[in-house]
Amino acid sequence: MYQINKRIEQAETLPADFYQNGQVWEACKENIFCQNWQYLCDGVALFKGAENVYPLTLLDNYLDEPIVLIGNDDTVKCFTNVCTHRGFQIVAQPAKMNRLTCNYHGRRFDLDGKFQFMPEFQAAEDFPRPCDHLHELPLHNWRQFIFTAVNPKFDFQKTWDRLEERLHFLPIESFRFAPEYSKTYNVHAHWALYCDNYLEGFHIPFVHQALGSILDYGSYTTECYDQMVLQIGYGDGSSLSFDLPQGHIDHGKEVTAYYYWIFPNFMLNFYPWGVQLNIVRPLTPKFTKVEFLYYIYDQEAFEIMQGDKLAEKTEREDEFVVEAVQKGLRSRFYRSGRFSPKREKGVHYFHQLIAEHLK
Ligand code: FES
Ligand SMILES: [Fe+2]
Repeated sequence: MYQINKRIEQAETLPADFYQNGQVWEACKENIFCQNWQYLCDGVALFKGAENVYPLTLLDNYLDEPIVLIGNDDTVKCFTNVCTHRGFQIVAQPAKMNRLTCNYHGRRFDLDGKFQFMPEFQAAEDFPRPCDHLHELPLHNWRQFIFTAVNPKFDFQKTWDRLEERLHFLPIESFRFAPEYSKTYNVHAHWALYCDNYLEGFHIPFVHQALGSILDYGSYTTECYDQMVLQIGYGDGSSLSFDLPQGHIDHGKEVTAYYYWIFPNFMLNFYPWGVQLNIVRPLTPKFTKVEFLYYIYDQEAFEIMQGDKLAEKTEREDEFVVEAVQKGLRSRFYRSGRFSPKREKGVHYFHQLIAEHLK
């Protein structure tokens, strides 16, 4: 469908068509979002209460896949939340249950998703079959966060081991989730435009004065790994930086921010005060919701760096440029552009991944 030259010096960006074509929009669901790991929830926060069964929708209004998380002693499993009889959604709300009972005609499943019982089916032949059990989706944990995929084609561990390479020293499990700062932004643009913008620091001096004042633009780096891009923002001498232990790969450097993006729609922004997760939720080719979840490690550093205020300002500035690009792509005179070999490695990698997935 699209071809992105592997040599950034020669490559052209994805054409405007990618962001506007309805068939491509649909293809992205199956070929990109179903095949890659999706952030689901904070498992520790979710299973704190008495409930052991949680219905969720995987990417509401996009993939719209009804699933249910079931906590069983110390394991969590994930199943389709759709009854194998006639498709009713089995679990409507979080609850404490010993088994799942469909409220349409009474089919029952155990907490391992296995078919148990169905009224009035005594005469049904060749029943139950394996497909009468609930389909199980794979789950993976990284620290307290839970991920799943409808049809995973990529090794979760490989990607997440990369994160540990630099983050092993942070007790992320004990960071405090801060609902008071967490919020969702409405962005009037295609989800991939939001990611394009995230993946380069090129625009920082032009668009983000406040953020630019705590990062040294000259030394800002971008590294591309399997299904992941890491951008490192170094301080300029006056900003707070991580207390990196001996032996850390960046020990001796003044790192102010680690920005991780996991293909296609998940970001982790680490600062000395903690981390902010971004979940990019596609809704229409012109509308995206972006959820910001804050986890605080050091409240004092958060206040010094004005963590939430800086993020709010940066986000509004990003929305302004991304929404303007959304309009610009409608021009009859724009087809695609070129990459800065020095500053747009992340966007180039993202476009290659998209092109490969849509083959
Ligand atoms: S749809 Fe569930 S029992 Fe009929
Ligand atoms: Fe930005």
